[in-house]
Amino acid sequence: MRVFAATPFAAALFALPVLAQHGMYLSDSKNPAIGNPEAIAAGTKLFMGSCAGCHGPDGGGGARGPNLVRRSLWHPLSDENIFSVIRNGVADMPATKLPDDQTWNLVAFIHSLTGPASTNPVPGDPAAGKAIYWGAKAGCANCHSIRGQGGSMGPDLSNIGGSRPLAVIRESVVEPAKDLYYLGNEAATVELKNGQKLEGVAKNRSNYSLQLVDTKGALHLIQMRDVKKLTISDTTPMPTDFAKRLSRTELRDLLAYLAKQDIRSKESAQ
Ligand code: HEC
Ligand code: HEC
Repeated sequence: MRVFAATPFAAALFALPVLAQHGMYLSDSKNPAIGNPEAIAAGTKLFMGSCAGCHGPDGGGGARGPNLVRRSLWHPLSDENIFSVIRNGVADMPATKLPDDQTWNLVAFIHSLTGPASTNPVPGDPAAGKAIYWGAKAGCANCHSIRGQGGSMGPDLSNIGGSRPLAVIRESVVEPAKDLYYLGNEAATVELKNGQKLEGVAKNRSNYSLQLVDTKGALHLIQMRDVKKLTISDTTPMPTDFAKRLSRTELRDLLAYLAKQDIRSKESAQ
């Protein structure tokens, strides 16, 4: 937990907003291997044989190679970049001599791990997932909106499938406390100089002002000079028990629905 007193904290704190391109994939290539289940399956085999020794079987990283899923969040690569990394190697990673089609199969596999969920095949039934998302058991819509419908305490999910790999979406649903992917959505308690106390999620924090969406969803614009004490929690305001609250099938279907949320898709995904 971090506690900020009213006055002397100006410069140090707010050097944060570095994650502008956070989770964005650079470009979609037109290669037919991308998103093709057979190419991905062939790429998976190649990856297990030639790459998993360094990068781990799910791309999650090992002693000699980085976690490719996580790296893609701060260092997005296009499919063409990935192709040339595989072909030519980089730093301690050796070059390969695979033919083009096999190299594209590997790219399709890497894309399935690190590219936007909406561009990859995802298991599950999105229609069933939609009912779960908007239903009372999960209650996602109390805090999130999709295409203008729903709450505002958590980030808008209209483009979640268009901007995040499936593994990352999955982790933010089942283990939201593990990594706060979304800086700028921190749980906060504010004590004002006039004695008022507010609790909610801090958005757009600067040295001078703070926007707080309180637990009822109301937005407060607060001047820092009126703040006596601001406490930013290191834990997420999002419930952390969805892995228990939802069955395996419900979770799979929910993820299939989220994966389809892409603002570039014309079909109203709601
Ligand atoms: C000997 C260990 C090793 C092997 C084998 C290996 N890699 Fe790598 N890989 C690395 C290292 C180390 C890096 C990080 C290089 C750097 O510092 O930019 C990397 C980076 C990458 C990147 C990200 C490049 C970037 O710029 O972010 C991709 C994609 C990748 N590897 C895919 C593969 C694939 C696919 C294979 C199998 C054909 C493979 N790697 C085999 C060690 C390895
Ligand atoms: C009590 C409010 C609340 C509820 C209920 C809630 N969330 Fe969240 N969620 C948040 C907040 C706040 C964040 C941002 C902070 C964080 O990432 O932990 C977040 C983050 C996320 C993210 C990451 C967003 C991104 O841009 O990376 C996803 C995905 C997500 N929630 C999905 C869901 C789903 C699916 C449900 C229902 C099963 C749900 N949330 C229920 C408040 C909530």
